[in-house]
Amino acid sequence: MSQDNIRKAPIGIFDSGYGGLTILSEIRRALPQYDYIYLGDNARAPYGTRSFEIVYRFTLEAVQYLFDQGCQLVILACNTASAKALRSIQQNDLPHIDPARRVLGVIRPTVEILDKVTHNGHIGLLGTPGTIQSQSYTAEVAKLYPQFHVHGQACPMWVPLIENNEIDNEGTNFFVKKYINELLAQSTLIDTVILGCTHYPLLYNLIRKHLPNHIQILSQGALVADSLKDYLKRHPEIEQKCSQNGKCTYLTTESGSKFNETATLFLQDTITARQIEIG
Ligand code: DGL
Repeated sequence: MSQDNIRKAPIGIFDSGYGGLTILSEIRRALPQYDYIYLGDNARAPYGTRSFEIVYRFTLEAVQYLFDQGCQLVILACNTASAKALRSIQQNDLPHIDPARRVLGVIRPTVEILDKVTHNGHIGLLGTPGTIQSQSYTAEVAKLYPQFHVHGQACPMWVPLIENNEIDNEGTNFFVKKYINELLAQSTLIDTVILGCTHYPLLYNLIRKHLPNHIQILSQGALVADSLKDYLKRHPEIEQKCSQNGKCTYLTTESGSKFNETATLFLQDTITARQIEIG
């Protein structure tokens, strides 16, 4: 196919709801020239407490929807979807749907840089119950750094507190302190903590307050953005299929106006989202 015949399309960014917006804004900061379609499955969120089968099915439906919009590359900007669905989609579904398209997640880019941050290989991981139970981080870390240890802590209350705009209050402080203390009780050696849920950057200040100063905190947005930039450089066959008008379209499976309102917690911009149906 000649260069001119390639149908260019936006890069798809998928999350169960709002959290992926923290990834999208860093990606747009690093790669403003491309077009993006953000899809939040808000009607079926949260994913963090759902079973493997459900997260896989919902994520596959969302990826298929973004493919139907023409996207050649989709980023799962959600740890729970990356943990529970990415590998199956890459290995079992993509070969049938379209082997030329790509779906990438947020776990690999986060794990890849760990050796540059940790001094002793003891990594704390904060995430949804689904991400922690899946052991996906442990498996990915074992592949790249078999000598490292992952200490996982599920934080089931954090996503609902964030989405209900309860970030600055005593109740949230209580639950941040509680899960951080449970994490620290697992090992006194932890020197690096991954915010393994795309919502958690909104709690950064509270998390920082409760973690000892020597512990480094890793937010994923910039890591995923750098990794995508590098990926597009290394894969011109995908890069040349990505349209470049600097535009972003927002889609949600819930009401658009509700999405617009809550999205302001996650983004500096005001946005206009359109409601769609998937599945
Ligand atoms: N944003 C999702 C993640 O990164 C969690 C939100 C949810 O539970 O749906 O895991």
